[in-house]
Amino acid sequence: MPAMLDVPAHLLPLQSRLADAAAAVHLRLARELASDIPAVNRLCRHLERYHGKMLRPALVFLCGWAAAAPEAPAGPPPEADLPIADPHLGLATVCEMIHVATLVHDDVLDDADTRRGGVTVNALRGNEAAVILGDFLFSAAYRLCSSLGDPDAAVAIAQCGMTLCAGELLQLDHRLDYSIPEDTYFGIVERKTASLIATACRLGARASGAPAAVQDALHRFGLRLGVAFQIQDDLLDLTGLQSVVGKPMGKDVEKGKLTLPLIHHLAAAQPERRARTLRLIDDMTPQPPQAPLPTQAHADAPPHLDALRAAMRQTDSIAHARAVAADLVERAKADLAALPDNAPRRLLAVMADAVITRAV
Ligand code: FPP
Ligand code: MG
Repeated sequence: MPAMLDVPAHLLPLQSRLADAAAAVHLRLARELASDIPAVNRLCRHLERYHGKMLRPALVFLCGWAAAAPEAPAGPPPEADLPIADPHLGLATVCEMIHVATLVHDDVLDDADTRRGGVTVNALRGNEAAVILGDFLFSAAYRLCSSLGDPDAAVAIAQCGMTLCAGELLQLDHRLDYSIPEDTYFGIVERKTASLIATACRLGARASGAPAAVQDALHRFGLRLGVAFQIQDDLLDLTGLQSVVGKPMGKDVEKGKLTLPLIHHLAAAQPERRARTLRLIDDMTPQPPQAPLPTQAHADAPPHLDALRAAMRQTDSIAHARAVAADLVERAKADLAALPDNAPRRLLAVMADAVITRAV
């Protein structure tokens, strides 16, 4: 995330400190995951390209720094106020490990062969290796978290793991549900994506000794930001360019997952239009046995997806989803008022804006 931010000049030193923190997380990850088995190390090295924006570690550090630093609207914080050490470093590493574990498992569930422009673990080594590698990461995360001296933080991480899985199970329960209510979609997204982002924010502040009210406000910030993040992810799956996003488009529909723009479209469309869209969705959703659609493997805009985009334009459904995400980001930024007005808080607001303007 930091690399893609449109950061005002006075926040650049802080952004650079965040890059140092991300590098420290990479080192800690390598140390925590090191194994005496070369095959395990090879798989873990393959995961290096899964890290992407490092949003969750950045949130742990920024929420921690913001909660600990004094009110200082203009001045750059002195480096002493921006520690890159445990417990924040450990917690940031834990959140990133869990995030990568969920992606490794998610690619198995989604039969995905490409992520961030590279081959997925399941495509490279098969589903068995990918499932166990995800379990390895999750176990490593829990081991690290339990060693940081705060049992309540370890409980929060374990609870978050359960919430992530519950979100995925709820999503599976609504697979091919063409009448899924928006509320259910938000329930899924809040659990499968936003819960970890919210936990990263809360634990970052908690590790700085922030009062419960500040931790709660940052948890709300993370939940709203996380839902906006997933709406943007879902928008990119329908409207993005494969060459930019780094994974095939239309995967959600192919897997029978209806996301906000389509849910809105199906609720708003006239019966005849709705019936045509349902036929399109049916054509894109292979029934078991689930062979991938060959025409969708590498095209930037598969033909059915083009037709879906045109249909959604008729009901302004893309604009609706964008407006919901933008509103969530505004409300998330308002949650930041619980923090002192300082540089880390300002960078958190910049990051919140970037969540819905990103193209990848
Ligand atoms: C991405 O959704 C998926 C998630 C954010 C959560 C996945 C969670 C699990 C598979 C549960 C596993 C849990 C643990 C603790 C290992 P997406 O498919 O919409 O996003 P994508 O476009 O990035 O694939
Ligand atoms: Mg997926």
